Amino acid sequence: MRNTFFPKEFIEKYSAFLGEEWEEFFKTIKTKQPKSFWVNTNKTTIKEAINSLKKNSIKFTPLHFHPQAFEIDSNVPGKLEEYRKGLISIQEKAAMMPVVVLNPSKEDYVLDACAAPGMKTIQLSNLSKKVFATELNSKRFEVLKKTIQRFELKNVEAKRIDFRNLKRNKRFDKILLDVVCSSEGLVRKKREALVGWSQNLVKRKSSDQKHMIVRAFDYLKEGGVMVYSTCSFAIEENEEVVNYLLSQRKNAIVEKVNLEGIKIRENKYCPNCVRLYPQDNNTQQFFLAKIRKEKTK
Ligand SMILES: C[S@@+](CC[C@H](N)C(=O)[O-])C[C@H]1O[C@@H](n2cnc3c(N)ncnc32)[C@H](O)[C@@H]1O
Repeated sequence: MRNTFFPKEFIEKYSAFLGEEWEEFFKTIKTKQPKSFWVNTNKTTIKEAINSLKKNSIKFTPLHFHPQAFEIDSNVPGKLEEYRKGLISIQEKAAMMPVVVLNPSKEDYVLDACAAPGMKTIQLSNLSKKVFATELNSKRFEVLKKTIQRFELKNVEAKRIDFRNLKRNKRFDKILLDVVCSSEGLVRKKREALVGWSQNLVKRKSSDQKHMIVRAFDYLKEGGVMVYSTCSFAIEENEEVVNYLLSQRKNAIVEKVNLEGIKIRENKYCPNCVRLYPQDNNTQQFFLAKIRKEKTK
């Protein structure tokens, strides 16, 4: 068990929200999470990456929700030769799922609206025709540029801007909106993740996220799909934000999600919105919603 920091208010809030699930949830988030990787098919094939890892006696197992996703038996996957060469990226498995659910194809022009450090940009680049990646923060933008270079994401155009300032007539087939959140879901990775946490922070993030989700939706083509995701547990940052979009845009619909081999939770606050609980699939917490823009008749 790890010595993780938890604010009293956090424990009160989520023990009430989770009820009898709380104990298992709390126990799980105090344990170390398993490591996983994504095969970067811009630089290698799944077969070549597997053979290279096997040759180096690395143990790994496929994750059934996507052929490029694997769990790895290593405490320091960042030291692997395959990682140094950019053949694989190290990414927590729940964090892979927003792109898997977005499911871009080689015909799709995709907006990665909140892109840095670019872990999901790698996935998007592998699967789509072209990616437009936007990042507001200048330091984080530099990290994104390095990711693009190292993993050879040649179909990615990156801009350091607030995506809400994109030209009004820009339209995308698919959009990933992986917003900044109160980072509650990072507690399994970082024991001090909740040091700056407060209910005020959650409310501030929620208000920003509501503005962002509507703006992002307006950049979607008719018939297009957007995935909204966070690693927060908070209803305020998740279901409430999606419901806000539904109240503002009548042509937004939340579609049902299926992830092979993954137990997902839905709740009464937002039908078809997905919560990934750490205890169900041994992941970090994640929330996602698959939103389609209906065609006007
Ligand atoms: C949760 S992180 C994204 C993680 C990233 N998708 C990945 O998987 O590597 C959110 C990012 O959005 C950026 N951001 C916040 N507001 C933004 C905005 N209005 N436009 C563009 N980027 C923004 C933040 O600086 C931060 O780097």
